[in-house]
Amino acid sequence: MSRAEVSIRDITRCPFSFADVVQCYAASWRSSHGFFPPERVAAFTGDAAASILTDLLAKGGRIWVADVDSMPAGIVALIGEEISKLYVHPDAQNLGIGSKLLAYASAHCHTPRLHVLSINLGAQRLYFRHGFRFTGNRRPFFERIMELEMIGPAHSGKVPLATIGD
Ligand SMILES: CC(C)(COP(=O)(O)OP(=O)(O)OC[C@H]1O[C@@H](n2cnc3c(N)ncnc32)[C@H](O)[C@@H]1OP(=O)(O)O)[C@@H](O)C(=O)NCCC(=O)NCCS
Repeated sequence: MSRAEVSIRDITRCPFSFADVVQCYAASWRSSHGFFPPERVAAFTGDAAASILTDLLAKGGRIWVADVDSMPAGIVALIGEEISKLYVHPDAQNLGIGSKLLAYASAHCHTPRLHVLSINLGAQRLYFRHGFRFTGNRRPFFERIMELEMIGPAHSGKVPLATIGD
């Protein structure tokens, strides 16, 4: 799948059911929240994930979905200049999809911001590669884990082509 095509579409206009997009998000969330008690991770299924995405849309946020081989492979959200919910399905990680989603959301901002968990060194590497830097602002998240704020480079506003490997 290294040269597969990815199309990025607004969730309200993508060819997938909301439930399928939610399942993709929930699977990625569960795979990346192993630091929570197992019952809390297991409880993050369709309903919990759906209410988060519904709430985000109700607040005026946008959600984009990566379409790879006619399957939802990942999502990213944007409210104002704050990027969030960058989640790629575990089976589709490390193929460049997260980078494409991040670039796409960033292109809709002047100066994108996001929060990343202090323990999520993989995501931090990805954000650094895309020019994001820590602002020094942080807030508690869970036990000793913090959410660290990052700010991205000012963007020209040109939306990138969404093709993996291009
Ligand atoms: C982080 C994530 C969005 C990256 O998407 P992706 O499509 O896998 O990323 P790309 O293929 O474009 O780039 C690969 C880079 O992503 C990061 N990455 C890959 N898998 C990751 C994972 N499971 N967790 C965290 N970061 C990961 C690494 O920086 C990797 O580069 P590396 O070669 O230096 O390790 C995706 O792995 C994911 O959904 N992880 C779980 C949820 C998460 O951590 N989201 C970020 C919230 S701030």
